[in-house]
Amino acid sequence: MTFLKIDNASKTYSGARALDGAHLEIAAGEVHALMGENGAGKSTLIKILAGVTAPDTLSISRDGVPIGLHGTADAFKHGFRFIHQELNIVAHLSVAENILLGHPYPTRLLGAVDWKKLNQLARAALDRLGVQHIDVRLKAARLSTGDRMLMKIASTLVADENQTARLYVMDEPTAALSGTESEKLFEVIRQLRQTGAAVLYVSHRMNEVMALCDRVTVLRDGRTVASKKLVDTSKGEIIRLMTGRDVKDAYPARAADITDRQVIEVKHVKTQRIDNINFTLNEGEILGVGGLAEAGQSALLQVLLGIDTVVKGRVDYPDGTISGPRDAWRHKLAYVPKERREEGLMLRRSIIDNINLAHLEKLSALGGVMSRKKERENAAGLSRQVQLKAAGLNQPCHQLSGGNQQKVVFARALGDVPRLLLLDEPTRGVDVGAKFDIYTLIRTMSSEGCAVIMTSSDLPELLGMCDRILIMRSGKQVDIVPTAGTTAADLLTLFYHQE
Ligand SMILES: Nc1ncnc2c1ncn2[C@@H]1O[C@H](COP(=O)(O)OP(=O)(O)OP(=O)(O)O)[C@@H](O)[C@H]1O
Ligand SMILES: [Mg+2]
Repeated sequence: MTFLKIDNASKTYSGARALDGAHLEIAAGEVHALMGENGAGKSTLIKILAGVTAPDTLSISRDGVPIGLHGTADAFKHGFRFIHQELNIVAHLSVAENILLGHPYPTRLLGAVDWKKLNQLARAALDRLGVQHIDVRLKAARLSTGDRMLMKIASTLVADENQTARLYVMDEPTAALSGTESEKLFEVIRQLRQTGAAVLYVSHRMNEVMALCDRVTVLRDGRTVASKKLVDTSKGEIIRLMTGRDVKDAYPARAADITDRQVIEVKHVKTQRIDNINFTLNEGEILGVGGLAEAGQSALLQVLLGIDTVVKGRVDYPDGTISGPRDAWRHKLAYVPKERREEGLMLRRSIIDNINLAHLEKLSALGGVMSRKKERENAAGLSRQVQLKAAGLNQPCHQLSGGNQQKVVFARALGDVPRLLLLDEPTRGVDVGAKFDIYTLIRTMSSEGCAVIMTSSDLPELLGMCDRILIMRSGKQVDIVPTAGTTAADLLTLFYHQE
């Protein structure tokens, strides 16, 4: 039975068409995947449904009855619950208040907020996700990205006495979650389906969608190109529908040998967050860094960049040690951080400015300035390399789709061929087509002599791209294994191994 029917959804942003008459039909008790390349219009459709964005045209009916959506309160009233792609948390409020945000607060007689009840409701919502480790009284500002996501998910699961929630909309909920946390979420989604609720699910992870969803609707350039039952389609077909081309579901092969020229030597390094880091890396080599969530992968990259200080041991580059991140250009290091929205981008500034940022630092250190024309050429070339989809290079980055924001940071890192490229979860939130492009770029750079260190929570990606994998557990390096002959199961065993 059709629960929700959306027709003729259109939205144009200052000349750029984000949605162009898209349609979507969701049945009750169904997990419905919404797929499409970066910039296809998924989040725009979701924001319209949430009453956050006003559409140019839209007809929508619920249980066969036309409804209006004139704000977030309308969406809530119709039983729609949202986990948006951008985690809009209120940093100075507690976790519990963030979880209850948008819900009616429990009150005592005379209308005062019942804080105890509020904390209990929030606790119960987290319990439903099997999350014990978050204290609901903490300020949200203190949570890690993964925990913020869990908090946002919990917010949609707050028990409502009248059972009014009918549709859960999740825009890339697993992008910042570990494998176990994702599994737990899938379990909850399956329970929701059993109660007759519908779930609209956005993800760039094909395997997740294949395992979890009943039906998929594919958007391309703001239009609905197909809606199919998952049993009647395949990964290959979905990718073709999304991209209009065949994309190899594989990893490009290495094109040149590893040289014997060393790029970095890390000896017994200890910082506040990690310990016992020990390896060397040569030109052309790709080292993966793997482990369970927050085992120290990002912290490892950060000490190499001079962001974290070395407490014991040394990090040696051919040109000596690094004094801080501002010294990175001198050692020819490039870095793509994990929290690209927060760490990587000046959201109000243009694509051109953001791409040229790294080079500006270098130029100003050398006393030079880049001409506007040169900047434009530089930005144009690099954004083509990462297949950036934008209205123009002067577009401010906050207007880009989530995946395209990531590509801007990536484009910047590729600026002048680095000697060592540090990538923190390089393909998180990136669509399948662009993923393959990024893999190809990494390969090209490494065959030109660049060494690469990349963290990833995607095991096939680690195995497909890297020569060796450094395994971390609770902040410590526990092993380095060659990829040849290693399986995903072997890696997991190493990640989980109990001391
Ligand atoms: N506020 C805005 N101003 C201008 N253009 C916008 C704005 N928000 C989105 N767009 C544009 O609308 C198009 C669709 O974006 P949307 O965020 O819906 O994509 P998406 O399918 O969610 O992509 P992703 O997988 O990268 O999250 C993009 O081209 C984007 O640049
Ligand atoms: Mg999006």
